Amino acid sequence: MHVAHLSLVDYRSYARVEVPLEPGVTAFVGPNGQGKTNLVEAIGYLATLGSHRVASDAPLVRLGAERAYVRASIVHHGRTALAELEINPGKANRARINRSAATRPRDLLGLLRSVLFAPEDLALVKGDPGERRKFLDELLTARTPRLLGVRQDYDRVLKQRNTLLRTAAMARRAGGARSGALSTLDVWDEHLAATGAELTAARLDLVASLQPLVDKSYDALSTGGGPTVLDYRSSMSEDPLPHDRAGIHAVMTAAIAAGRAAEVERGQTLIGPHRDDLVLRLGPLPAKGYASHGESWSYALALRLGSYELLRADGGEPVLVLDDVFAELDTTRRERLAEMVADGEQVLVTAAVAQDVPPVLAGARFDVADGEVHRVAPSE
Ligand SMILES: Nc1ncnc2c1ncn2[C@@H]1O[C@H](COP(=O)(O)OP(=O)(O)O)[C@@H](O)[C@H]1O
Ligand SMILES: [Mg+2]
Repeated sequence: MHVAHLSLVDYRSYARVEVPLEPGVTAFVGPNGQGKTNLVEAIGYLATLGSHRVASDAPLVRLGAERAYVRASIVHHGRTALAELEINPGKANRARINRSAATRPRDLLGLLRSVLFAPEDLALVKGDPGERRKFLDELLTARTPRLLGVRQDYDRVLKQRNTLLRTAAMARRAGGARSGALSTLDVWDEHLAATGAELTAARLDLVASLQPLVDKSYDALSTGGGPTVLDYRSSMSEDPLPHDRAGIHAVMTAAIAAGRAAEVERGQTLIGPHRDDLVLRLGPLPAKGYASHGESWSYALALRLGSYELLRADGGEPVLVLDDVFAELDTTRRERLAEMVADGEQVLVTAAVAQDVPPVLAGARFDVADGEVHRVAPSE
């Protein structure tokens, strides 16, 4: 698929911008701080309903404006769909598809598939487990939009259960014997195990599919090191988990029962997919804390390229976005990356100077300066 037109209103630095796009490679070129990432971030937001740079919506709305609009026409198998998102910080966002009545933003999931790689992705390797959980869950929902509902249900149950555990912990400290909160906990344990098992099973399945693709990408990018191994570490058990939902459900139920005292003591849920990690190994060692800067960078890129290959294999080739990556890579890796992605249906890259974009990726070019986006004629 590809984006044929992107339109932003009051998004980040843009009061209004219209960008006609084509399949193939398009480069956005301009000095730092001119609004290149803002453009591709908006595409990423439509695809994942989240920004790769910020956790809340407020910074996405132009200073002084109340709400932002992101619109894209998406061409897939020759058919065009118009996706629109209204971003209302502090209130519910609204979506529209093909100018129909307003709907929930999650209905947009799957309409635009995109994989975005940006310097921030180094945190996938060097950052906290939360970064890697977010990576997995975002890819899960891109492949299977229904799982966004499961993830949201799990988060809701978790919140309720934590409130109960906090209440129970306070009652205990105040000297109360057994608080009423504890008796309701059983019901929440079951909800937690049911939604938690579904999410965990989906993550394990994803990791198994992703593993060979990430390793292949790492291998193609780097000059040695590896193999890369994605090792899902569950808070439920030290032993490898069963791969089926019912089996995981049983393990989680047992772990919750065994951990009850510790959870009441701490006043929070200690078991479940919200505490899991995806350990990224490079050879025998974990990449975090051991890999060099270059290796970490290649690993992060391999995670995204692996995701791209996975979505590609599902059908519906995603839009690939490479934000500011070429300047970070040495010539060899730069050329290898360029060759790997050159045949993508649509590849959007940003760079501070045109020379950073490898010749294999010659294509359309826009100059981005002072909040304006200008198409550069091929001869220039
Ligand atoms: N909500 C906002 N309102 C107005 N300007 C913003 C907002 N968010 C970011 N900016 C501006 O956007 C610019 C950064 O744009 P960005 O796309 O990250 O630049 P780059 O071209 O380096 O990728 C900064 O000058 C920043 O001040
Ligand atoms: Mg940028």
